[in-house]
Amino acid sequence: MIVTVINQKGGVGKTTTSVNLAYVMSKTKNVGLIDLDPEGGTTTSFGMKREKKELPLGGKSVNIFNVEVFPAHIGLLKLELNGDVNEIVNSLKEISKNFDVLVIDTPPNLGTLAVSAMISADKIVSPVTPQPLALEAAKNLDSRLQSLGKKAIAYTNFSKKSVEMELKSIQFTNIAIPQSRLFIDASRLGVPASRYEEVRGKSRKLVKYFEELSKVILE
Ligand SMILES: Nc1ncnc2c1ncn2[C@@H]1O[C@H](COP(=O)(O)OP(=O)(O)OP(=O)(O)O)[C@@H](O)[C@H]1O
Ligand SMILES: [Mg+2]
Repeated sequence: MIVTVINQKGGVGKTTTSVNLAYVMSKTKNVGLIDLDPEGGTTTSFGMKREKKELPLGGKSVNIFNVEVFPAHIGLLKLELNGDVNEIVNSLKEISKNFDVLVIDTPPNLGTLAVSAMISADKIVSPVTPQPLALEAAKNLDSRLQSLGKKAIAYTNFSKKSVEMELKSIQFTNIAIPQSRLFIDASRLGVPASRYEEVRGKSRKLVKYFEELSKVILE
């Protein structure tokens, strides 16, 4: 199955969600994680570098912490500008056949790559932050999901209290991930925060949110 993480607003936690969900799911499933953001946030979050070569989608992957990570590469910029949505959707579906779950991290827009990732998705997850502009963005995302005939599951990031909004295609869970320094420390080290927590032998503060989210997605 394909799990796409989406929100056209920047900095809301898409990459954090993608890497931690993939890491948590990989404990019980065969998981791939593809970085469709030319900026390569997921790539660096797993301690890798963006590929300077232009590759086909799915052209390179590296197994890290039991997650098969497909790093961002130069070719993504071309696909964003001139790519064909149907071809991208077909490639993503083809890649996903090798996994129980393929998690897709997307750029902060609703361009070719993000729309292709939405169309190919079996499940769509959207982190939402409780600021007014972010809530406005959630409404716009809802309209786009409606036009594509897709549904998404949302959770709240950077907050102890979950956002409650009535939208047609986005269902809000009561999951709320508070602000935590661990995310920043982990991303500096190039490891998912839930992995960082685990190896440091810290209490399972963050991982439980992603386990909960994973449960909602897989049910
Ligand atoms: N709950 C949180 N507490 C503290 N820091 C967080 C939290 N969630 C995410 N961050 C940090 O906020 C920054 C932005 O998060 P992230 O990169 O996941 O967002 P994004 O939606 O992928 O951004 P972009 O749209 O630029 O790709 C990162 O430095 C990340 O480590
Ligand atoms: Mg990102």
